[in-house]
Amino acid sequence: MKVLFLNGPNLNMLGRREPDIYGTTTLTGIEADVKKAAKTLKVEVDFRQSNLEGQLVDWVQQAADRFDVIVINAAAYTHTSVALRDAIAAVEVPTIEIHLSNVHAREKFRHKSLIAPVCCGQISGFGAKSYILALYASVHVKVASKTAKKP
Ligand code: DQA
Repeated sequence: MKVLFLNGPNLNMLGRREPDIYGTTTLTGIEADVKKAAKTLKVEVDFRQSNLEGQLVDWVQQAADRFDVIVINAAAYTHTSVALRDAIAAVEVPTIEIHLSNVHAREKFRHKSLIAPVCCGQISGFGAKSYILALYASVHVKVASKTAKKP
């Protein structure tokens, strides 16, 4: 099983970016923790970050037929990107939306996610552990899709 983790703008600055909100773990540290947990679950993980919306759209498109699940922290693009929403809707890869912070407990503009309606679920507010929870959710999604009854 293969899971693609995508990270959007400014997440490369984790560790020194508003640590009171996002914690002190760097994105490299999160990647290492995810890969360690993935190994015990026998899951293959590809972990990427870009500040560019078009790059994230390209990666979502390219995930079709290559990955079983996409986990995406679209960061600020969560609240603005119709392009990313359309890309997720276009590919038949189950996608899980994640956030380090609890976006619903923050500013009003963060309450709206344009990608939520095309994702199978959202994990928000558990800091770096949101990524580990998403890894477990990915396994669940894959198993559920395998055992789903065909009409
Ligand atoms: C974030 C929440 C977003 O609102 C914000 O723009 C981010 C990070 C999070 O992980 O909590 O950049 O996605």
